[in-house]
Amino acid sequence: MKLTNRLKVIASLVPGESIVADIGTDHGYLPIYLLKNNDVRHVYATDVNRGPLQAAKEFVTENKELKRVDLILGDGLSCVKEKDVDGAVIAGMGGILIQEIIQRDFDKAKALSWMILQPMTAPEKLREYLMQNGFEIIREELAKEQRRIYQIMLVKFTGESTNYQNSFYYHIGEKNVKENHPLAGEMIEQYKEKQQKILRKCEEKTTPTTQKRIEEVLALLRQIEEVEQDYANGKNTGHVE
Ligand SMILES: C[S@@+](CC[C@H](N)C(=O)[O-])C[C@H]1O[C@@H](n2cnc3c(N)ncnc32)[C@H](O)[C@@H]1O
Repeated sequence: MKLTNRLKVIASLVPGESIVADIGTDHGYLPIYLLKNNDVRHVYATDVNRGPLQAAKEFVTENKELKRVDLILGDGLSCVKEKDVDGAVIAGMGGILIQEIIQRDFDKAKALSWMILQPMTAPEKLREYLMQNGFEIIREELAKEQRRIYQIMLVKFTGESTNYQNSFYYHIGEKNVKENHPLAGEMIEQYKEKQQKILRKCEEKTTPTTQKRIEEVLALLRQIEEVEQDYANGKNTGHVE
């Protein structure tokens, strides 16, 4: 079975022999891949919408895995609250939605041995929330499909709140830089180009609002440059690409 690069990197972080909740499973590709390739024991494949859950049911049936996959219609972690799961994957949703899912069932999120989170947007909001609320980001990964680089994090509740000195790390993950992920340089460059574009746009027409925005962008660009320097000083480690 062939998975997209993003889902493959997510799967590479799921511990073998675990009982997994795939929150927002959609097509159900990840549960089947995990059963076939990661030796996971059981998957709770959940979705808040009927259409995606039906698609997942068809895929699971096609793969003759109805015994090892429970399909549950429900919102976030609430539908696995009473289930004995080791960890959860919450992928392919906005960072703020992932944050809300964790916040709504905080006790369940705290009790899990691991969570694998893959925000499509606002990774900085999600990281800030996690770090301020006692979750440790144990590992960061990146996956590239065409030009888009996806961010994936493995987290666990420890109860210790932390923060980053340079706030650009909330956007791209400190470990991606310090551990010199092969895609981190390209991701930094993409962020930098985006900020420079915003800056040029704001400079075309200066008003008090754009002036404030210019100052914010310039401050972020200074932080990006510091991080770029950190990345240049690092050394390579073996990451999944
Ligand atoms: C873009 S798909 C991602 C599918 C898969 N997780 C992936 O990464 O490829 C997002 C899925 O999350 C589901 N979803 C959105 N909000 C949810 C929530 N609060 N609880 C459970 N599922 C949710 C949607 O119905 C949709 O099927």
